[in-house]
Amino acid sequence: MEKRGVLYSGKAKSVYETDDPDRLILEFRDDTSAFDGKKVEQLARKGMVNNRFNAFIMERLKEAGIPTHFERLRSDTECEVKRLTMIPVECVVRNLSAGGLCRRLGVEEGLTLNPPTFELFLKNDEKGDPMINESLAETFGWATRQQLQLAHELTLRVNDVLRELFLEGDMLLVDYKLEFGLFHGEITLGDEFSPDGCRLWDAQTREKMDKDRFRQGLGGVIEAYEEVGRRIGVNFD
Ligand code: C5P
Repeated sequence: MEKRGVLYSGKAKSVYETDDPDRLILEFRDDTSAFDGKKVEQLARKGMVNNRFNAFIMERLKEAGIPTHFERLRSDTECEVKRLTMIPVECVVRNLSAGGLCRRLGVEEGLTLNPPTFELFLKNDEKGDPMINESLAETFGWATRQQLQLAHELTLRVNDVLRELFLEGDMLLVDYKLEFGLFHGEITLGDEFSPDGCRLWDAQTREKMDKDRFRQGLGGVIEAYEEVGRRIGVNFD
């Protein structure tokens, strides 16, 4: 497959067109951003680590019957994916309280959430990704009721698969964000799954092993991402 021009460059990934109208190439860069792009740094090896991490997770999800856009690894920092028409809605599941939930509701960090919560946010940097709901998404045409229903079901199935996977590595999957799109009309998991878009804590010490290390200036960001990967069997060599 031939790589063509940049279609879109986000905060941590660039997306390239290819000679196949149904396929794109994702390039994971070393750029790391937080707080709507107000904090930005380059972290060596991050592109490679997240690319391999994402490939590993997407393969596990595919094996579990979740439709994903992931096709194959292409290089250390690139993978090939199906070209989706993205739905501009972020689906967030939380198993433990942290981050935005604590700020919004004033609850303490680390409460077990049973059943896990499911939230929707509009993907819109200018508006600061406001929280929305099914009614707003349907009325404003961001997604149909059926697409939202499917995205909800798939997001919870992902939780079952990944909670167990991380627990086997002695880690708690605290929360995560997924994005979906349409591939020839079929709802399909897009974007990425890496420690940039989820929270993971050591199950014993509750030490943070995800992007909160960057957000909170705790250091050892990539070392933590690699440790998460090693514990679940990702190969970074
Ligand atoms: O900030 P908040 O607590 O709402 O985030 C919930 C989860 O979704 C976290 O794991 C966070 O990393 C992820 N997230 C994301 N991209 C966003 C918003 C949230 O990856 N734009």
